Amino acid sequence: MRQHVSFYVGDTLHHLSSLPPELTLLDWLRDQQARTGTKEGCNEGDCGACTVLVGRLEQGHLVWRAVNACIHMVWMLDGAQLLTVEDLRGPDGALHPVQQAMVDEHGSQCGFCTPGFVMSMVALSTRADLAALEGTLDGERIINEALAGNLCRCTGYAPIVRAMKKAAAYCVRHGEPISARTAELSARLQALQDGKTVELHSPQGRVTLPATVEALATAYAQDPAAVLVAGGTDVGLWVTKRLRQLPHIIAVRTARDLHKIHTRPDGALWIGAGVTYTEAMPHLVAHLPAAADTLRRIGSTQVRNAATVCGNIGNASPIGDGPPIFMAAGAQLYLRCGTDRRVVPLEAFFLEYGKQDIRPGEFIEGVLIPPLPAGSVCGVYKVSKRFDQDISAVLGAFVLVMAEDGTIQQARLAYGGMAGIPCRASRAEAALTGQMRTPETLLAAQAAIKEDFTPLSDMRASAWYRATVAANLLVRLFEPDRDNSPHHAPTLQNWQEVAHG
Ligand SMILES: Cc1cc2nc3c(=O)[nH]c(=O)nc-3n(C[C@H](O)[C@H](O)[C@H](O)COP(=O)(O)OP(=O)(O)OC[C@H]3O[C@@H](n4cnc5c(N)ncnc54)[C@H](O)[C@@H]3O)c2cc1C
Ligand code: FES
Ligand code: FES
Repeated sequence: MRQHVSFYVGDTLHHLSSLPPELTLLDWLRDQQARTGTKEGCNEGDCGACTVLVGRLEQGHLVWRAVNACIHMVWMLDGAQLLTVEDLRGPDGALHPVQQAMVDEHGSQCGFCTPGFVMSMVALSTRADLAALEGTLDGERIINEALAGNLCRCTGYAPIVRAMKKAAAYCVRHGEPISARTAELSARLQALQDGKTVELHSPQGRVTLPATVEALATAYAQDPAAVLVAGGTDVGLWVTKRLRQLPHIIAVRTARDLHKIHTRPDGALWIGAGVTYTEAMPHLVAHLPAAADTLRRIGSTQVRNAATVCGNIGNASPIGDGPPIFMAAGAQLYLRCGTDRRVVPLEAFFLEYGKQDIRPGEFIEGVLIPPLPAGSVCGVYKVSKRFDQDISAVLGAFVLVMAEDGTIQQARLAYGGMAGIPCRASRAEAALTGQMRTPETLLAAQAAIKEDFTPLSDMRASAWYRATVAANLLVRLFEPDRDNSPHHAPTLQNWQEVAHG
């Protein structure tokens, strides 16, 4: 057992033994380290002004991830290397190639936003496949994705993208200064990895950083009132927005055996509770290709770098994006309390708003997503006000298992945003099962949707809008080609009739 966390900030090694459990990295950097280059904008993970770089050894390799310091807790840095905007200049004072390109291309935003943009761009410039950014459409997409979590566009977006391309081209030819230090930084991080559980005590409370799932299970069984924190992208907001104090935090991501992600011999995908969306992304995209575009729109790069797939289930938000997708795919949740384990179908985990089938001291060990049956028809559609970095108004995730003769053998339709919990549309599923994919079947399923749900009106969408969209998403499933064709605009009148009865 260790009683302090250790990490590097720039070239300074910090050992901290007494930390308020919920102290954010942003507050610590600005108030206690005078590193005021990292800015506070929204303080809720949205604007990207507080973006910093966290370097960690992942399977022995040093990997840099941009995260939002405002919702990252200081103890999360144990064993890591932190870089803030103050660390970017070279020993001779030279600007980092990204900074230089921002100057050359007139990419600067205001003083709040620029450091955050620069840090996201530097994170991108450390990627090993940087050469792929040059002159390809995919490169443009990767840049846009990397910058989606830096929201402000006051002084224009194009110069920033140009600066990123210029910096990337420079780094491909001359090397990226942080990557050039990989061997040295990896060696000093390796020296910090002792595999021990950590227990921090302060007048404000405790933080337990279990090294294994056994240690986590024991700690949580002993204190079921403790708060589990995985990526903290939700819990961080309890602290910064609701000003909650958390007297005992138990970390999830420090348990090394919860980081497993693999495909089993039967084709099912296992995702452990410590796996982030960024880590899971290539596996999820290969496993559920229809969900790829939606998965890339969960939060931002910074959010997905910290947020876990299982935290997305654990928070039980009615508008979380992962749960309906995994539900439609028939996922099962693996729960554990002390040494007791049980498995529940994902849809059975969500009971009602704010209530889940989970006992005191019980936690999610992982989620198992079975392979889709051959020939399944799948669609996953996220509808939100803004394309990137926005919470869904409605999300529909659909799997139709088809028989050889073209009838729908099984239908799994799951929605987010339509009720107090993510849930399946059982009446619409019944309307589809055993039917051919005809316009009549579609209309019957759309009519059944209004029996399935009585959605709420809130700031994201009205009840009418949600009901209409939920029905329309089935049109996309039945007629995917219709999406992009101006000649096949959905007949809104029909959907209004469906929505209003
Ligand atoms: C700016 C921003 C944008 C976002 N955009 C989206 C979005 O587009 N779509 C979306 O779905 N979500 C979004 N979110 C919400 C959030 O990022 C996700 O729900 C995320 O996956 C939560 O994971 P986490 O690891 O950060 O959870 P944490 O914050 O660590 O935990 C969330 C909850 O789950 C519990 N928990 C965590 N791990 C376990 C476990 N193993 N067992 C039991 N309980 C556990 C915690 O106690 C807590 O109650 C956004 C958040 C932010 C800040
Ligand atoms: S201050 Fe806006 S994302 Fe952190
Ligand atoms: S608020 Fe900073 S550039 Fe818009």
